[in-house]
Amino acid sequence: MPYYTRLGEVPRKRHVQFRRPDGALYSEELFGTEGFVGPSSTLYHIHPPTQVTGWKKLYDTKPEYVEVEIMRMRHMKTAPMKPHGDPVDGRVVVLGNSDIEMALCVPATSMDYHFKNGQGDECLFIHYGSGTVYTMFGALRFHPKDYIIIPKGTIYRMEFNPLGEQDRPKGVSAADMPFGKFIAFETANASHFGPPPRYVSKATGQFLEHAPYCERDLRIPELPLTFDQRGEFEVRIKARDCVHSYIYSYHPLDVVGWDGCYYPYIFNIDDFAPIVGKLHMPPPIHQTFEGHNFVICSFCPRVLDFHPEAIPIPYNHSNIDSDEVLYYVEGNYKARRGIESGSISLHPQGIPHGPHPGTVEKSLGKTYTDELAVMCDTFRPLFPTRAALLLDDPHYPESWRADHFAPGEQRDSKDQGPVNTWT
Ligand SMILES: [Fe+2]
Repeated sequence: MPYYTRLGEVPRKRHVQFRRPDGALYSEELFGTEGFVGPSSTLYHIHPPTQVTGWKKLYDTKPEYVEVEIMRMRHMKTAPMKPHGDPVDGRVVVLGNSDIEMALCVPATSMDYHFKNGQGDECLFIHYGSGTVYTMFGALRFHPKDYIIIPKGTIYRMEFNPLGEQDRPKGVSAADMPFGKFIAFETANASHFGPPPRYVSKATGQFLEHAPYCERDLRIPELPLTFDQRGEFEVRIKARDCVHSYIYSYHPLDVVGWDGCYYPYIFNIDDFAPIVGKLHMPPPIHQTFEGHNFVICSFCPRVLDFHPEAIPIPYNHSNIDSDEVLYYVEGNYKARRGIESGSISLHPQGIPHGPHPGTVEKSLGKTYTDELAVMCDTFRPLFPTRAALLLDDPHYPESWRADHFAPGEQRDSKDQGPVNTWT
């Protein structure tokens, strides 16, 4: 959880009279977790947040997983995905299990409603695009490579700016990407995204010296905070694997002030300070967030291992208890056959994986990697959806097959670019 903060006006003590300019009381709302004993915030609304009508079910959200009995490496190219829906209903779940769901979104339209995920926390990684998330805690302006953490229950509306020509991937038209593209991770087990506990002080929650990021790197909600309007405002609420439409009698973002430790925030992946070592460092050094039964890691540009005989790319490994998913953002992909920006690889528990043939010898002596990737490791198997199968490369599991050559006998000498360490 982030640190204690406040925005706007709050009374000197909790649960005391706090009056609007017209003399009426503000409506206090405790926004709390874990049955009143977890992190919380206290908000002050101009109007009671309970004044709602409607409660109509709109659509189901439960992902339908396929090939649940099949264990194999997967590679999905998401670059060809066409724009679809808005930043909430346009999310296409590609992988998931009972702990976490991973979706891609290329929005085609803007949101004309507010949304509340009453089921799980969200972690949105912005690959392309910028804009503002207007929330009940204030506004968060986002940019490419931001992780936006939106805790469960937060009412928000995500507004993208139109995407400029220079901000779009090369060769992609405005019709194919009008606003941007992002990955959405969502907890399915009611756990919350937070920094690994080892990064923070047990006594104060403060980020410790060895953590690869700290409080100064987190961008927290800012003004504007308060929208005082009467009318009919739709808030779509996700709960019980369905999205419902509720109608609020007042603008749902009518908070004049709040304080606490439970609120949305942003962390940009370029602010992650990689931990490097003399010899190969394992993936936990890249860890950025975690929830119950999964971790999110950031593979960022960095200097490589500095032992004179170091092998700077990973050893083959059986990560026996984890499925590993990587989303490739930027960098040189030549050392990884078939991988491109927007690729997703899934390396499941049950079979070892490692560098592609020839890449170990080519990595020797390299001192720097320009890779940028987001990883999600889960402690239970991940399953694809039908949408994932449409993007799937069925030949990927065979991409490691090749003879193991001695130095000087290397027959594939095409890939001589900078090294990357994705496996
Ligand atoms: Fe791996």
